[in-house]
Amino acid sequence: MRIYKTAKALQKALPKDKAIAYVPTMGALHAGHMVLIDAAAKLHDVVVASIFVNPTQFNDDADLDAYPRTPKSDVALLKKHGCKYLYLPKVEDIYPKGTKFSAAEGIDFGPLTDTMEGANRPGHFDGVAQVVSRLLEIVQPTTLVLGQKDYQQVAVIRAMVQRLDIPVDVSVVPTVRAKDGLALSSRNKRLNNKERIAAGTINVQLAAVVAGLKAGWPVDVLEQLALSGIGQNDLLNPEYVQIFDGDTLLSYLDGDNVRELVVATAVHCGPVRLIDNRIVNQSNP
Ligand code: PAF
Repeated sequence: MRIYKTAKALQKALPKDKAIAYVPTMGALHAGHMVLIDAAAKLHDVVVASIFVNPTQFNDDADLDAYPRTPKSDVALLKKHGCKYLYLPKVEDIYPKGTKFSAAEGIDFGPLTDTMEGANRPGHFDGVAQVVSRLLEIVQPTTLVLGQKDYQQVAVIRAMVQRLDIPVDVSVVPTVRAKDGLALSSRNKRLNNKERIAAGTINVQLAAVVAGLKAGWPVDVLEQLALSGIGQNDLLNPEYVQIFDGDTLLSYLDGDNVRELVVATAVHCGPVRLIDNRIVNQSNP
């Protein structure tokens, strides 16, 4: 695997005549990321990964400073999974016109960013749209490979791609879970043993919501039950549990006909804030 520190060097090295599958990451890579890399390799011959902890999508400086950084093991994992191109830029390479400039500036995402992560992390999705638009400009992939764990992020990126008319397909890979059901996340690395065990409750509660929805229970009852179920554990403090239409991200109203019904949550656990979601009526372990 070759490591490229500048957009110029990466662009020079990438083959012009081959389809590229691209996996953007912020590092601290784990098995969930490797499933994205493996999925990318199945799609196209050329797989590009990037590691860039994007400062503009953090609404909390302490979270940015504490974000886990594990470059050596990241490189080893990517090599093991056959990734040939790693883009590892500095802030100046991503934002040559400064961090204020964004090609995605002024896009109104409407209800896609009004709720959940958008409501609780001001500016977060502007930063995500800003960095992903720039990364796509640099890598120019055929397919962008993203994880379903960040359900709302996927919806925002899809909308951005459409509004900016970027010629790229977006491919979404199901969430990878630990044995107890906790969604794999770089932030899990910051949990102590007790917190890590407590965090397993999050998926149990989401699974209960899915079962309740299938049995026809009312949405507001299920949201409340999950909130109190998670909150019962002293180490967990849920911010929201929301059941919504996967296409619009608008709250689901009992009886509505939707293509994809989703339940998502954000939960504070020790030093971190964890997010997770489950799609109803899809095989999503
Ligand atoms: O999901 C992430 O790791 C980040 O939000 C992304 C897509 C790499 C943009 O910084």
